[in-house]
Amino acid sequence: MCGIVGAVAQRNIVEILVEGLKRLEYRGYDSAGVAVKQDNEIKRTRKVGKVSELVGALKAEPIDGFSGIAHTRWATHGEPTEDNAHPHFSNDKIAVVHNGIIENHEPLREALIKEGYQFSSETDSEVIAHLIEKERKTSSSLMEAVLSAVKQLDGAYGTVVMSMDDPDELVVARSGSPLVVGKGIGEMFIASDQLALLPVTREFIFLEEGEVASIGLRDVKIIDRNGNAVEREFEESTIQHDAGDKGTYKHFMLKEIFEQPSAITNTLEGRLNEESVIIESFGNRAPELLKKIQAVQIVACGTSYHAAMVAKYWIESIANIPCLVEIASEYRYRKSVVLPNALFITISQSGETADTLAALRLGKEKGFLASLTICNVPGSSLVRESDMAFMTRAGAEIGVASTKAFTTQLTGLLMLATAIAQAQESISKEDIASIVEELKHIPGQTTQILELAKRIELDAEDFVEKSHCLFLGRGDLYPIAMEGALKLKEISYIHAEAYAAGELKHGPLALIDHEMPIVVVANNDDLIEKLKSNMEEVRARGGQIYVYADEKCDIKGSDNLKVVKCQSGGNYTSAIILTIPLQLLSYYVAVMRGTDVDQPRNLAKSVTVE
Ligand code: G6P
Repeated sequence: MCGIVGAVAQRNIVEILVEGLKRLEYRGYDSAGVAVKQDNEIKRTRKVGKVSELVGALKAEPIDGFSGIAHTRWATHGEPTEDNAHPHFSNDKIAVVHNGIIENHEPLREALIKEGYQFSSETDSEVIAHLIEKERKTSSSLMEAVLSAVKQLDGAYGTVVMSMDDPDELVVARSGSPLVVGKGIGEMFIASDQLALLPVTREFIFLEEGEVASIGLRDVKIIDRNGNAVEREFEESTIQHDAGDKGTYKHFMLKEIFEQPSAITNTLEGRLNEESVIIESFGNRAPELLKKIQAVQIVACGTSYHAAMVAKYWIESIANIPCLVEIASEYRYRKSVVLPNALFITISQSGETADTLAALRLGKEKGFLASLTICNVPGSSLVRESDMAFMTRAGAEIGVASTKAFTTQLTGLLMLATAIAQAQESISKEDIASIVEELKHIPGQTTQILELAKRIELDAEDFVEKSHCLFLGRGDLYPIAMEGALKLKEISYIHAEAYAAGELKHGPLALIDHEMPIVVVANNDDLIEKLKSNMEEVRARGGQIYVYADEKCDIKGSDNLKVVKCQSGGNYTSAIILTIPLQLLSYYVAVMRGTDVDQPRNLAKSVTVE
């Protein structure tokens, strides 16, 4: 959601803050602001729109200072206006940036107004500034004031506080929204994501839930929610330095689509033997646990949920154990049954999605055998709170529409299904060796399929004027069709829906006419003849069909049926390979429609509020 950056240094830090915001802009992007201490006052610049608007304003009227905080917002309470943009002030003494939602902001606001505080925004965040200002009057330090203030908050917060009366110090507090402290030489930084700080440091401390930290030029003092001191060392980041750059690509999304061969190579590296999966890739306890499990429960959101749906097909068919899959925001709020000896799995690119994290915490209370996360961000909340973690190693994903994170999740999930089957000896050694062979071919096959980009760009032209689109698939390609529909709607704003092709007759067929494009993904499997019949039903009603099919499928093009044949892998990996044409199709349609591909309207990359 929102992005936060802060710095305490002995040099002007405005450029560092703004660069950090640019690198975080993918998280939220409807307004941005910066506040720095300058000549015994706090100066602030805020702008509605993207960080580039803020940069323009700072160019026209520069501010500078040795300590400061900055924020890029994704509105929850209050429209994206300048008044609602962060940082928020209290009595020109306290400045605050906040990521999250304060659920009890209304009673707090009323109480503070009665005490004479004046509010200048509609945000929930502004109560934090006034509460801290109030607490600072009776506390011996800014840290003590922040601890007292956050104890009164219900909800989620990652917050950074700057005070006029406390030089060379920022105080930060974390509950439900991630924060990371970065160390320079005689300077210290804070951000909601280490990516923001990679140009200035590679040494980080990840704050834990409930912690409050005071950040000075050379020291970090951390306390837990009860005020007890916490000792933690800085860790060296493993993220690549250029992770936040587009290079020569027009958009991050295109760069990330083309990074898939190397991302998947990284996912596989060191995790496969000649003819089997190295089960310990899922954690030291994995051999013992995967042998014991009798069921799997997966929870996730968005694109990660689609990966979970594909995994259901694979786990049930390869490992022969039941696999339940649910959207995290539903799972966390309903009574559900825990199957005996079940493994609880979360899938998440960011590792910080609020609903997925809440579902994990609930799962841990409900008596699952163990928890495993399939995640892309080392040190993220899901990784730290799960018993086992499988890092997808996709590298930083900046485009809001998830691409390489998805295909690397799928790669990890196919390895997991195989590892369970291996541990339980539920399929033959030959079958395991054949899946491992398929896995090894994915990077090469993704490279080949990317060569079809120009061909897919031609198909995209037909979609530019359309308002609706249907996606069809069967078996493990049904969730791939769902992912295709999600990609198209989120970046091109064309209404798109996906159906398991066998469901066509039960309603969606009524939508088909010559205005409706239908995208089909097809593998040469047991269901291909049935899928071809489904396509005939569509053709007979004038629908224009676009098929992305494995080269072995006997599907011939015609007037209203365009086919792109691909070397799509084997029985299982087709789902991974055939995702890529759908990513490219959405990308080109969005570019032709002139939408903001990397930062589509109303969306955010990392959804840290529910
Ligand atoms: C947001 C992003 C999606 C992502 C979903 C789940 O909606 O825009 O791309 O799939 O969150 O995020 P996660 O980080 O948990 O995979």
